[in-house]
Amino acid sequence: MNNKIIVANWKMNGNKALIDAYGNFFKNYQGDYTIVVCPSFIHIPLCYSQNYFLGAQDCHEGPMGAHTGCISASMLRELGVKYVILGHSERRLQCFESDEMIKRKVNAALENDLIPIVCIGETIAHKEAGQTFQILKQQLKNSLSENDKTIIAYEPIWAIGTGNIPTDCEIITIFQFIKNLFPNNTIVYGGSVNEKNAHQIIHLRGVDGLLVGGACLNLVFFEGFL
Ligand code: PGA
Repeated sequence: MNNKIIVANWKMNGNKALIDAYGNFFKNYQGDYTIVVCPSFIHIPLCYSQNYFLGAQDCHEGPMGAHTGCISASMLRELGVKYVILGHSERRLQCFESDEMIKRKVNAALENDLIPIVCIGETIAHKEAGQTFQILKQQLKNSLSENDKTIIAYEPIWAIGTGNIPTDCEIITIFQFIKNLFPNNTIVYGGSVNEKNAHQIIHLRGVDGLLVGGACLNLVFFEGFL
């Protein structure tokens, strides 16, 4: 078994049919990768395979209380969830999540024995202005706690759901940059990963795994990749 990780982020997608398709596909999986499946909150207790770990797509920063519609880290833990994606660019943008709020969520996750997967990434405007490294450094500094357990997901915003991906050289350079700042953390790549490019990306120097969005909604991805 290698120690690379594949995180499937269902976002606001999926249904019972997808849960069953995953259950059937992973029934006999004894492959090389650690698989983490992140369905919507309500689908979490319906997932049943022993051959993948469960992840959530967010959690609240607080332990309990008057926060209508929110889910705490301890609730996730109680249901057998092991990982939680935090600070995804869609949440940063659509739910106005700041680096500081994400850091508080990271701490809540760690306190409850969840492994945070913290997303960072630059916009196309940052990239074109030559600000990628500055933005990444700022996001890393402000949204992560110093903790080796946390997984860092580098997801260039311009690559998410667009079919555009950075060059191999860009990925290697950026991973080296992150590794220099956080030498002991697992770092994964996300943004338009599919069954055609997954092999190539996961074997680039410094890449410890993948965070897959759209492509993981079809088992063709795993059939082609695993
Ligand atoms: P994508 O999404 O694979 O559909 O580009 C990745 C993500 O947002 O985590």
